[in-house]
Amino acid sequence: MWNSDNPFLNGNYAPWREEGDAFDLEVEGEIPRELNGALYRIGPNPHFKPRGRYHWFDGDGMVHGFILKDGRAAYRNRYVKTDGLRAEMSAGKALFGGLLDQPTEMPQDLPPFKNAANTNIIGYANRLLALYEASSPHELKPVTLETVGIFNFADKLAGPMTAHPKFDPANGDLLFFGYQPFPPYVTWYRADCGGNLIESRPIDTGLPVMMHDFIATDDYAIFFVCPSVFRIENAAAGKPIMAWEPELGTRIGAMNRKTGELKWWQAEPFFVFHFLNAYEENGSLIVDGCRMSALDMTGNEFGNPPLPWRWTLNLGNGGSLKSEQVDDVSAEFPRLDERLAGKKHRYGYFAAFRGDDDGGFGFNCVVKRDCVAGGTEYQDLGGNKAPGEPVFVPRTSGSPEDDGWVLSVWYDPAMDSSELLIQDSRDFSGKPIARIKTPHRVPFGFHGNWVPAE
Ligand SMILES: [Fe+2]
Repeated sequence: MWNSDNPFLNGNYAPWREEGDAFDLEVEGEIPRELNGALYRIGPNPHFKPRGRYHWFDGDGMVHGFILKDGRAAYRNRYVKTDGLRAEMSAGKALFGGLLDQPTEMPQDLPPFKNAANTNIIGYANRLLALYEASSPHELKPVTLETVGIFNFADKLAGPMTAHPKFDPANGDLLFFGYQPFPPYVTWYRADCGGNLIESRPIDTGLPVMMHDFIATDDYAIFFVCPSVFRIENAAAGKPIMAWEPELGTRIGAMNRKTGELKWWQAEPFFVFHFLNAYEENGSLIVDGCRMSALDMTGNEFGNPPLPWRWTLNLGNGGSLKSEQVDDVSAEFPRLDERLAGKKHRYGYFAAFRGDDDGGFGFNCVVKRDCVAGGTEYQDLGGNKAPGEPVFVPRTSGSPEDDGWVLSVWYDPAMDSSELLIQDSRDFSGKPIARIKTPHRVPFGFHGNWVPAE
C-alpha cells in the first residue's frame, strides 16, 4: 500500500480505510447464546499516507465491534475521530509525523503530536474508552462507536493515561498510571467504577522511560523501569528520542497501594510490553509477563522474540529477585481470566508463534498456558492463518477459572479475509465452536475487550 516497503503498511498491517456496518454475518458452527455483548478491538489504521517514516504505533485508531446476540453476529467499524484526524481529514492529507519522523514545521494551531487513540479499548462507567498511552482517553458511544471526545475524568487527569489499566475485581475500581518524559515520570491513579478519579500519586522512578504496562495485586502496584529511555535532546540532532541503554539494567518497583511506600529490585536489562498477572504468595510477589531481551524503537524491527517469564520479588528485607523463563515458544498479548486480576491464577492465553522464530509480532497460533502445572495447549488453524490477542470471556460471573470462551480475530492470507474465532476454553485445542466471517479483512491491531450487554 502506498508503494511502501514498510511491513506495517503492507499485507494485513495495511489499513482498512472504510467504515461500515454488517449484519447476520456468516457463521460456521454455532455462537453460544450466553455470549451476549460485544468484543471491541482497536488498532492502528493510518487514514492518510504517512508523511515520513511510519511506525506501527503511529496509525489512527480504528475500532472494530463484533456484536453477538441470540446466536447471531454483527460487525461495525469506525475511526476514532480525534482532533488530529479531523484536522487531517479537513486538509485531505497527513499533517502529523510519528515516532520516527517528526515534521520540522507543524501548522501553528495543531499540537506537535497526534493522540492516535489506537492501543486499547475498554468498557468503563457505561462508556467505551479508546486508549493511547501518550495522551488522554477518547470516549466513544458503545452502540454506534461515535466519538464523543476526550475523557479526562472531569479534568482531574492532568497527564497521559496508560493503555493498560486494570480493573480491581473487588470493587470495579480502575487502576492505572501515566508516564511522561519529564518529572514526575510516572503518576499512579485510581478511579472508582463510576468514572470518578479518587487517587493520584507521583512515583519517583528516577528515569524517563517508555512504560507500556504495569501490574497490580490486592496490595501492590508493580512498575518495571526498563532501559528504553527518553532522550528528548536527541531530537535536535535528528536522532531517535528513544534510546536503549542496557547499562542501566531494569529496575522493578513495587508500590504499597495503601502507604505509597516503594520497594525496588535491580535486574539485568530487558523489556516487557505486557504482563499477564501478578499476585502475592508466601511473602513474595509473583509476576508473569512477556520478556524481550532488548527493545529497538529506532525502526520497525523490534529485534527480539517475546517469551513468557516469571519474576518472584521477595518482599522481605534485602529481598531477592528470581527471574525465570517459563516457556520457549514465543508468545505475546497475554490475557487472563480477569476475575483473577491480582490473585493467584492458573491459566494464561497468548498469541504465539511456533516454528522458526519470526523475530517479532507475527503469530500463527493461540496458546493456553497452565502456569501452575506447566504445559501448553495450542489452537492452530493452519494455512499461515494469523491470530491477534485472545480474549477470555467467563461462561457466567460465578463459573470457575477457565470455564468460558476464548475469542480471537484471525487473518487468512490466502483469502485476504478475517474471522472471529470462538473456542471453548476447556477444549482449547479442539474444533472451534464458531468461526464468524467478517465482511472484509480486519487489520492486525493491538488490544480489545469483551463488554457484556446490560
Ligand atoms: Fe499493549
